Amino acid sequence: MKTLTHHYPGTFFSFEGIDGAGKSTHIQYFSEELACRFPDKKIILTREPGGTPLGEKLRQSLLNESMDIRTEALLMFASRQEHLSTVIEPALMRGDIVISDRFTDSSFAYQCGGRGLSIRDLDVLETWVQTRQYGQQTFLLQPQLTFLFDLSAEVAQQRRSATRNPDKFEELDVDFFNRVRNEYLRRASQSPERFVMIDSSHSIQDIQQQLKTCIAKL
Ligand code: TMP
Repeated sequence: MKTLTHHYPGTFFSFEGIDGAGKSTHIQYFSEELACRFPDKKIILTREPGGTPLGEKLRQSLLNESMDIRTEALLMFASRQEHLSTVIEPALMRGDIVISDRFTDSSFAYQCGGRGLSIRDLDVLETWVQTRQYGQQTFLLQPQLTFLFDLSAEVAQQRRSATRNPDKFEELDVDFFNRVRNEYLRRASQSPERFVMIDSSHSIQDIQQQLKTCIAKL
């Protein structure tokens, strides 16, 4: 199925990567650079799970409580549905720029790659929550560009242990994050036109330069 975001006046970006790969460091910079490049546009910086009052409550449970892995996947998509219908789509219809810290690629990476749910099941959820009709055609609502911060699971674990108290996901082992990373790479290889690969082992300055170059081409 084709992706829909090009039919909205607004623009939708997502940032992805395993925990510790550094996407949160760069999302703020990206947002500030976009604001300079498009001073007339409203920029909405948001996140998943979360981004709405209900989504933030779900985030608390998802990041701290143990639960059945299907419940986890369903709550991720429940948060996404609320986020899409109350924040993302209204913003795209107004012509705003939306930057989401994580979106559906995280569900494939963590719930399929990491937890072991089937890709077929997640395809069903993705299709259910993200299918839109435009005229006679049916599309899948996806970010126009997804920045994937790629880093080995070992280095990401070292970075995490140096900087924060782990949540439910962050305390999982290197094998889990290797599987998450592999699923991200599979998704990226399926949609190369949507993904911008960022090598997170590079310096902050190099990554900022790469982001700046991308913004200049928008
Ligand atoms: P973060 O937003 O601080 O990076 O953390 C959110 C955590 O939730 C992260 O470990 C990835 C996980 N997650 C999933 O497992 N599935 C999802 O669909 C999303 C959006 C996040």
